[in-house]
Amino acid sequence: MNNFRACLFGSALLLFLFLGAAGVQPAIAQQDQATHIVHRLIPAGDTCSTCHKAIYDQWKASPHAANGVECTVCHGETTAKDFAGKPGLSTCETCHTDQVAQLKSDPFMKGRTCVSCHQAHTFVEHKTAAPAGQ
Ligand code: HEC
Ligand code: HEC
Ligand code: HEC
Ligand code: HEC
Repeated sequence: MNNFRACLFGSALLLFLFLGAAGVQPAIAQQDQATHIVHRLIPAGDTCSTCHKAIYDQWKASPHAANGVECTVCHGETTAKDFAGKPGLSTCETCHTDQVAQLKSDPFMKGRTCVSCHQAHTFVEHKTAAPAGQ
């Protein structure tokens, strides 16, 4: 009996792990809440663009830069415990309430996130190609 239950539990755990792994597979990774990471210490004099040049250039040309939505507005301070490696929907929601509401309610949007259609740092309409690396 105990073995049987242990086995059932084991299978459920395996299934859970399998589904969990499968859930991580799609390139579309934006979650409801941000994924928090510990950022390395930034040497004095360095700015975000020193090390993230390509992203900085994309952002700089975007409506976000034009409207003062800085890196830290979405990601937080690099020294903060809740620094967001990947900002979630809740981050976008503070300024784009309608779009997030639509994403959550519209059946067409099922399985999609903001970054499915808008590249993370240009956020121009219609994502044309998956950005390479970085
Ligand atoms: C001295 C170099 C350096 C500077 C300056 C720097 N970063 Fe980073 N950053 C890194 C490295 C290295 C990583 C980890 C490797 C990677 O994912 O690119 C990283 C990772 C990140 C990530 C998470 C990537 C992920 O996959 O989760 C974000 C977001 C980020 N940096 C934002 C910033 C912001 C915003 C600034 C400016 C306030 C900044 N960084 C300044 C080197 C730097
Ligand atoms: C409007 C919000 C927003 C702003 C402003 C923003 N980011 Fe991001 N950033 C995101 C999102 C969302 C992701 C996650 C993308 C994904 O899940 O594919 C991300 C991901 C990243 C990553 C991880 C690597 C990658 O491309 O996925 C780095 C590094 C990064 N941002 C750096 C920066 C830097 C540096 C700036 C400022 C020059 C900046 N971000 C400004 C929303 C933002
Ligand atoms: C602090 C406020 C703020 C946050 C947070 C924010 N945005 Fe924006 N966003 C703006 C402003 C301001 C504009 C420019 C005016 C407009 O189009 O509404 C803009 C414009 C945009 C545009 C239109 C780009 C274009 O070409 O017209 C997209 C797409 C976008 N944001 C997506 C996002 C996504 C996705 C997130 C979350 C990762 C996010 N924004 C987070 C303020 C914000
Ligand atoms: C299925 C693809 C798709 C998804 C997912 C998506 N968008 Fe959009 N978005 C678009 C298109 C296409 C436009 C251009 C609409 C137009 O011109 O009428 C747009 C336009 C915008 C604009 C410019 C203002 C406007 O309403 O025209 C903002 C801001 C925006 N989206 C934010 C977001 C945010 C935030 C998310 C996540 C909650 C998101 N979008 C998810 C396709 C998408």
